[in-house]
Amino acid sequence: MSAVLKSVPPVATQSGTGRLDIDQVSIHLGEGAQRFVALDEVTLTIEPGEFVCLLGPSGCGKSTLLGALAGHLQPTHGEARLDGLRIAGPDPQRGLVFQHHTLFPWLSVQDNVAYGLKMRGVSRSERLNLAQALLEEVGLQGFERRYPHALSGGMQQRVEIARVLINQPRVLLMDEPFGALDALTRLKMQELLLSLWGHLKTTIVFVTHDIDEALFMADRILVMSPRPGRIVEEIHVEAERPRQSEWLTSTPFAHLKRHCLDLLREPDTTLPLERLNPVTGLNRRGIRSSEF
Ligand SMILES: Nc1ncnc2c1ncn2[C@@H]1O[C@H](COP(=O)(O)OP(=O)(O)O)[C@@H](O)[C@H]1O
Ligand SMILES: [Mg+2]
Repeated sequence: MSAVLKSVPPVATQSGTGRLDIDQVSIHLGEGAQRFVALDEVTLTIEPGEFVCLLGPSGCGKSTLLGALAGHLQPTHGEARLDGLRIAGPDPQRGLVFQHHTLFPWLSVQDNVAYGLKMRGVSRSERLNLAQALLEEVGLQGFERRYPHALSGGMQQRVEIARVLINQPRVLLMDEPFGALDALTRLKMQELLLSLWGHLKTTIVFVTHDIDEALFMADRILVMSPRPGRIVEEIHVEAERPRQSEWLTSTPFAHLKRHCLDLLREPDTTLPLERLNPVTGLNRRGIRSSEF
């Protein structure tokens, strides 16, 4: 473990911080006739240090719920709280990582990571020391002076995670952070995140539509329904930690994956199309589709 993570006591376990309460939160989006319920009365608690995945199909409201926790979106009804205080706006205590990085292209890697400390008035030498240690932690030693455009997608996300962790957030909010990476890089990033979380124990809320990813990482998976977004099931993943990639090919994993697939499969509300003979273009009753 690097100096910074040794010198910085784990945030959540240190004082039991990082508890999220989502209390009957509904979020309506859009204007006028286009207005719709994106999130419908979601109530849940996330404990300090817990790793929770929000799993659901595209458009079900995962990012909307995360946006409420980030403070970017205000609930139409209900409220979200961090450690008992209503979330009223963005705050570095709630670090946010998206699918695409938000690094400043004109700053070097180390200055990007140190940026949060600069805003808090920490001296240049101290903030660069901490940035250096965190960059080591995410496997980017030697890349401190590079610029974001000179890095691969996986490396950019490593910098992004370091940039957020330097603020010692109580909660890490991640919205499909590895969604744009190839499968192998994604697995490496998942392992890196699990290892960081293993000693930081910061609460993590991780959004994904990838069942394997949720089952690999989470203590608890909250499965969401298609619009309007609701939590339809809570799955406790009991697999021991640290999780190894063998877990991904085990029998209990396959059972849980099957269960998640069944939950995510949208109910088929459309009428099945009549099967036509590909040669004649006629249906079983000998009628052409245009004559139905
Ligand atoms: N600002 C907005 N105005 C109107 N509709 C929105 C807005 N943001 C998201 N939506 C819609 O709300 C629904 C939920 O979006 P989102 O939370 O991004 O879903 P997910 O992250 O699960 O894919 C989607 O149908 C999306 O198109
Ligand atoms: Mg989304």
